[in-house]
Amino acid sequence: MSEMQTIQWFPGHMTKTKRQIQSSLKLVDAVAEIIDARIPISSRNPDLNKLIQNKPRIILLNKCDMSNQTATKMWIDFYKKQGITAIAVDCKSGRGLNKFPMAVNTVLSERTARLKSKGMVNPIMRIMIVGIPNVGKSSFINRIAKQNRAKVEDRPGVTRGNQWFTISKNLEMLDTPGVLWPKFEDKVVGEHLAFTGAVKDQVLDIEFLAVRLLDFLKVLKPAEFISRFKLESVDLESLESYELLKLIGKKRGMLVSGGEIDTERAAIMLLDEFRSAKLGRITVEMPAKDGE
Ligand code: G4P
Repeated sequence: MSEMQTIQWFPGHMTKTKRQIQSSLKLVDAVAEIIDARIPISSRNPDLNKLIQNKPRIILLNKCDMSNQTATKMWIDFYKKQGITAIAVDCKSGRGLNKFPMAVNTVLSERTARLKSKGMVNPIMRIMIVGIPNVGKSSFINRIAKQNRAKVEDRPGVTRGNQWFTISKNLEMLDTPGVLWPKFEDKVVGEHLAFTGAVKDQVLDIEFLAVRLLDFLKVLKPAEFISRFKLESVDLESLESYELLKLIGKKRGMLVSGGEIDTERAAIMLLDEFRSAKLGRITVEMPAKDGE
């Protein structure tokens, strides 16, 4: 995935981003990490733990309208076992966002108790959003900003231009998210990001990507995928994925002159339908029993 690295991130850029996040971190009490609920492993930044150190953290499993509900619940339990608060959200419709203030309260309860014991009543809690590109950071911030029009004045000592939104009583959010990079050196991570469209299609060969997606789908066999392409009577596991791509193209009448199947068009269509959840609500990555 070295291409992805050159296209999206280069070392200078990463250092600058890291520095920006580190300086924003000084202003906040907790971090909300947004990830894609369909690929909770690949949509995380490999260096985040090191970057935020002991800062309390919440995980937002976004795009839960497109992930498998049972899988998302399993992920939430998985994080819970590790002592991490995670909630499922859908920033497109706003579903689940009402749970956010409560989740922040939970992760900051020790701090609140400590400040209360010092006589501070209802201390303000400040948070920032972080995440890799395309997970829904802007969507989250826009939703919250729309629901909470009033911006908080710039604070003394805060970099000019930083704005704070009031999310609920005592809870404020920095308007600029920290944009992180994915674990791009890992081939599977790159493929999974590409499945969801988080990586530009020019980076990986589209037919190769569709074949990799079919490798996965033919084992998982989501009901919508099977019925959409009328694959009920096909022995999927004994069919090579490229042949399956051809079959799908044929079923959709995607032919080029001479009667050949237009596998490129079929690949584009397949990925498009996966990305818009027409093949079902599919989670590609499941939590392992013994860690990620
Ligand atoms: P970013 O700031 O982290 O880079 O992500 P951004 O909010 O720009 O979201 C990336 C894409 O994901 C957008 O789609 C956005 O609408 C979509 N999105 C964000 N959250 C959700 C969600 O919870 N569910 C669904 N289904 N989609 C979500 P886009 O195609 O780039 O733009 P558009 O369709 O909004 O025009």
